Amino acid sequence: MAIRDPRKRAALQQMGVQLWELRELAVDAPVLSAPGAGVEDAAAVTDAAPAGAQPESGNPVMSMTWRMLEKAVAECRLCDLHQSRTQTVFGSGNPNADLLIVGEAPGAEEDRQGLPFVGRAGQLLTEMLIAIGLTRDQVYIANTLKCRPPNNRDPLPEEVRRCEPYLVRQVELIQPKLILALGRIAAHNILKTADSLARLRTREHRFGSSSIPVYVSYHPAYLLRSPGEKRKAWDDLKKVRALLCR
Ligand code: URA
Repeated sequence: MAIRDPRKRAALQQMGVQLWELRELAVDAPVLSAPGAGVEDAAAVTDAAPAGAQPESGNPVMSMTWRMLEKAVAECRLCDLHQSRTQTVFGSGNPNADLLIVGEAPGAEEDRQGLPFVGRAGQLLTEMLIAIGLTRDQVYIANTLKCRPPNNRDPLPEEVRRCEPYLVRQVELIQPKLILALGRIAAHNILKTADSLARLRTREHRFGSSSIPVYVSYHPAYLLRSPGEKRKAWDDLKKVRALLCR
């Protein structure tokens, strides 16, 4: 069966996938239900703490509802990044999603729009998602940092430390089936390791002490600079899709 959807065909070509591989896609892949499907009230997560969440004592962030968390992030001044940001970037998508994608930090365009992955790298991420049959509305997209580091420098350890509870609480509230960390820096910050991306992407990891699996793949900005690596990123995406369909 050939893939006829022109958006999907274009997305696959963007990913560097030759169209003859579409056969493999069509034959191998079970139909992917929308992550979060079955949740009747899509806003359910926004008001209530999930059953089983274990707020860490001492940090009020860990008992916040989604709305409280959004507000806390919007007003955050815990590190110096609040001085240079235009606005915070909390995240976007479906807060009941099965797939949570985590990048590094907002860039210039994200800082301007207040949304994650909306620049060139974000466009490629959108194409990557389409290639596995997902739209941005069906996943949740966030970053390890909620504010843009000036001149897109790497996040400082102190910035990561201060911002971390927000992501931890987002994960607790979303309860995704799977987390996909994009790029070395996101992976290092989430997994507390200094292993190479090449090694990290070959294994399944866990988010903190939870049972939520974390997978690592290339950052789309890196793929824009190194299109030859898109093939491997495509392999990673197929794995993610298969895991979501399980
Ligand atoms: N790069 C990231 O890691 N996150 C964004 O939101 C945008 C670019």
